[in-house]
Amino acid sequence: MITNTNHLDGKVAFITGGNRGIGFETARELGKLGANVVIGARDLQKGEAAAETLRSEGIQAESLKFNITLAEDRQAAYDFFDQRYGKLDILINNAGVQKEIEHLSPMNQTSTVSPAVLYETFNANFFSLVETTQQLLPLIRKAPAGRIVNLSSALGSLTLHANPASPIYGVKLLAYNSSKAALNSFTIHLAHELMDTPIKVNSAHPGWVKTELGGKYAEIDATEGSRTSVKLATLPTDGPTGKFYHLDDELPW
Ligand SMILES: NC(=O)c1ccc[n+]([C@@H]2O[C@H](COP(=O)([O-])OP(=O)(O)OC[C@H]3O[C@@H](n4cnc5c(N)ncnc54)[C@H](OP(=O)(O)O)[C@@H]3O)[C@@H](O)[C@H]2O)c1
Repeated sequence: MITNTNHLDGKVAFITGGNRGIGFETARELGKLGANVVIGARDLQKGEAAAETLRSEGIQAESLKFNITLAEDRQAAYDFFDQRYGKLDILINNAGVQKEIEHLSPMNQTSTVSPAVLYETFNANFFSLVETTQQLLPLIRKAPAGRIVNLSSALGSLTLHANPASPIYGVKLLAYNSSKAALNSFTIHLAHELMDTPIKVNSAHPGWVKTELGGKYAEIDATEGSRTSVKLATLPTDGPTGKFYHLDDELPW
């Protein structure tokens, strides 16, 4: 059981796609720091099971039915945080999809990737994420020091993709990579709009993480993979905004 008080007491965090993988571990770590964590899950039963696991560890956790692509779920999320907390301190835009690897061999079918895969990927990773953030922003403005963390990927870096010496140079998944590049653009643009507010907006590369999305050959576990999200969610007043990080390392756009 967690008995210490610490710096996230009184804060509420919403983690989309928080029922498993990096999102679940991010919820756990923020909860250990004292935050009330709300797990967004498109399957409410899975969300509630995840929240129950955290509650059994002494964390203040709730679940909310949240499919990022559904306008009614985005509205319901706004209503939930408005009525229950009157604010939102931390938004972890974690839910994301990667729909290409199972179809791809070799890892570059840029000339043939289907419009459906492009659309579904952008819908979850970019359009719906932008709409979620826009919808919840009035509540984030009501928090004393809002933090928005966008789960991007090193695969979203155009600079790394253009560099033959980069370790990700060969991983050319057009839909996923360009959706994360677009998300990085959102980070820069929103941080610019909010630069005169206490709100900080940053992109996170979690590392290559053993999850359903990352696969079994990935390098780190989901707890390690949550570190960058937690770090960016708990930035101090003089911390960065409009940047792209993996742990303490700033990544090129
Ligand atoms: N794993 C890596 O190596 C890696 C590397 C770089 C970046 N990332 C990014 O990190 C984030 C988390 O990835 P992960 O590895 O933890 O993936 P994961 O284990 O596959 O989990 C993805 C989560 O997103 C949820 N989700 C998918 N579509 C959704 C939708 N339409 N509405 C709401 N939730 C939805 C899933 O819900 P269900 O359980 O219902 O499917 C699940 O909770 C993603 O944005 C990913 O792009 C991961």
